[in-house]
Amino acid sequence: MIKHVDIIFGLAWGDEGKGKITYNLSKNYDVICRWNGGSNAGHTIYRDGKKYKTHLVPSGIFNHKKCVVGPNCILNPEEFYNEIEYLKNTGLDVSLIKVAPNAHIITEKHIEYDKQHLQQKLGTTGKGIAPCYSDKMLRCGKLAKDVLDKKYIWDGELNGNILCEGAQSFWLDINFGVYPYVTSSETLPYAACSLGFSPRKIRDIIGVCKAYDTKSGVDPRFPEDSVKDPMFSKIIEIGQEYGTTTSRKRKVNWMNLTLLNYAIKKSGCDILYSNKWDILDQVKIYKIIHNHTVIEFENKEKMQKFFEENLSKEIKKIHYSAHPETL
Ligand code: IMP
Ligand code: MG
Repeated sequence: MIKHVDIIFGLAWGDEGKGKITYNLSKNYDVICRWNGGSNAGHTIYRDGKKYKTHLVPSGIFNHKKCVVGPNCILNPEEFYNEIEYLKNTGLDVSLIKVAPNAHIITEKHIEYDKQHLQQKLGTTGKGIAPCYSDKMLRCGKLAKDVLDKKYIWDGELNGNILCEGAQSFWLDINFGVYPYVTSSETLPYAACSLGFSPRKIRDIIGVCKAYDTKSGVDPRFPEDSVKDPMFSKIIEIGQEYGTTTSRKRKVNWMNLTLLNYAIKKSGCDILYSNKWDILDQVKIYKIIHNHTVIEFENKEKMQKFFEENLSKEIKKIHYSAHPETL
């Protein structure tokens, strides 16, 4: 029986550090699940001083937890088996990894179409995401149960305390993001129920953001020119703002608190993790965009005071955390 379900998701454009938070919290749960996306995601985890990267398997695997890739996810079998090998070589028990029988399979044709028609125009990851979800909707897709080794197929059972891990984030959601600069799945907590539990089981909704905003790929809110600002270049270097999946340089902007509050309200988030404040300490510039105005602060304490005073009142608890590489 399911006791309760907590959900972690990103409040911005991805790359907020969801993987790190999920890994740290996962020790308190029985099952860790992914409900959306595929290997377009990239999770960076630091464990015993070592850095690991995954794309599909939930970060709970690093705490030896049962991990479920849900029916609203899509996967490329070759990448899946590569990730299994990588995790096995790290000494992890990969028999804990299960994939929903009706998760959809990304084919070579999907990847080709993405690379030819979408990658340039929309800045997609080129992993075949949109074409695979299109075939799912056209009802001509291939299912995991017909392609993957049976030992990885999930029996649909969820028991105990469940943690759901979002991929991509609020502004990439197909319904809430800046269409067409979005991904092709639902990135918000509402979609976690696709794993097969009632919305009534949801307890905590945990949102992750960082002290400044970044974006991988095209988005009109992040003009190309912003990459050229020397201050943002410094943040990119110190904060290691390069895509985990594509190695692309991310675009940077100051934290937009108005947009963050919107994301908090729409998603129902009540607990906040805000990462990478130490990066601002290194560049020694503290700015927030609020109601279309850029506000500058003398120090981090003053910025955090303003942040907390103007943050949506839905948030009951804020945790600040630093980038693990610079701790
Ligand atoms: P797609 O998901 O590959 O179709 O890419 C659509 C948009 O979402 C592009 O702007 C990507 O850069 C972005 N995107 C997809 N997955 C991630 C992610 O995990 N982190 C950050 N951006 C992502
Ligand atoms: Mg990521």
